[in-house]
Amino acid sequence: MLHLFDQIQAAVTEIQRRWPERPHVGIILGTGLGALARQIEAAATIEYDEIPHFPRSTVTSHRGQLICGRLSGVPVVAMEGRFHAYEGYPLDQITLPVRVMKALGAELLLVTNAAGGMNPVYTTGDIMLIDDHINLMGLNPLVGVNDDRLGMRFPDMSQPYDAQLIQQALQIARRENFAAHRGVFVAVTGPNLETRAEYRFLRAIGADAVGMSTVPEVIVAVHAGMRVLGVSTITDVCFPDALKPVDVAEIIATANAAEPKLRAIITGVLAAEAKRLARAS
Ligand code: HPA
Repeated sequence: MLHLFDQIQAAVTEIQRRWPERPHVGIILGTGLGALARQIEAAATIEYDEIPHFPRSTVTSHRGQLICGRLSGVPVVAMEGRFHAYEGYPLDQITLPVRVMKALGAELLLVTNAAGGMNPVYTTGDIMLIDDHINLMGLNPLVGVNDDRLGMRFPDMSQPYDAQLIQQALQIARRENFAAHRGVFVAVTGPNLETRAEYRFLRAIGADAVGMSTVPEVIVAVHAGMRVLGVSTITDVCFPDALKPVDVAEIIATANAAEPKLRAIITGVLAAEAKRLARAS
């Protein structure tokens, strides 16, 4: 098998052949964000199976294409459809697209997901800006020989999520008049949802929301030196003493319904980034 560095280069070469621009931002669209994907002024849409070394998404609620173009005037590369540990992929494959985004030129990663809310003040449909995370996947994408060209052996994780971007996102939510919390996200492997005892445990160790993605991608983005904004949609509430069986179709419907809020945050953050870039040039 090719070395990770060579896999990244091969993917970058194919993407640049189809879209020669340099993205400023990489976006990972979680469950229910198809409408946001449609809002990107796409210059190229590339199926994952046309990109060397990209895994294929096996989840029906996720498509599998890379959308390259502009959103709020900013050049972006967006993943419509992401990969999860529960699909059986190793984490270095799941996170390869983040490495590729960085190698294409992206400095910022916007990552979204659907999550179960454990903080008792959260309700279904709320937004949570990820302030910090706990990796309970029992896996780490950085395990193995470190390639110093990609990042350092022992990356700092004292602040994986950019405080300024969180503030901006909270301001957007206030302006648009919807509830947005700031909280701790815990990542589990899945695919089953948690038992009552597990939700109790996850809440007790300090998590506000739980999901099956995002943390591997964020670890790699931090390793690669990217600024990160992580946004969860609370698709179900998980209070161990009043737990109802979860319906995955309902989770997807809630994620779809909350899409305008996420879109407001993402397009708002990008508009601010466009202004910042204009001032800097
Ligand atoms: N647990 C794990 N992942 C999830 C949940 C949950 O309750 N809700 C949405 N994704």
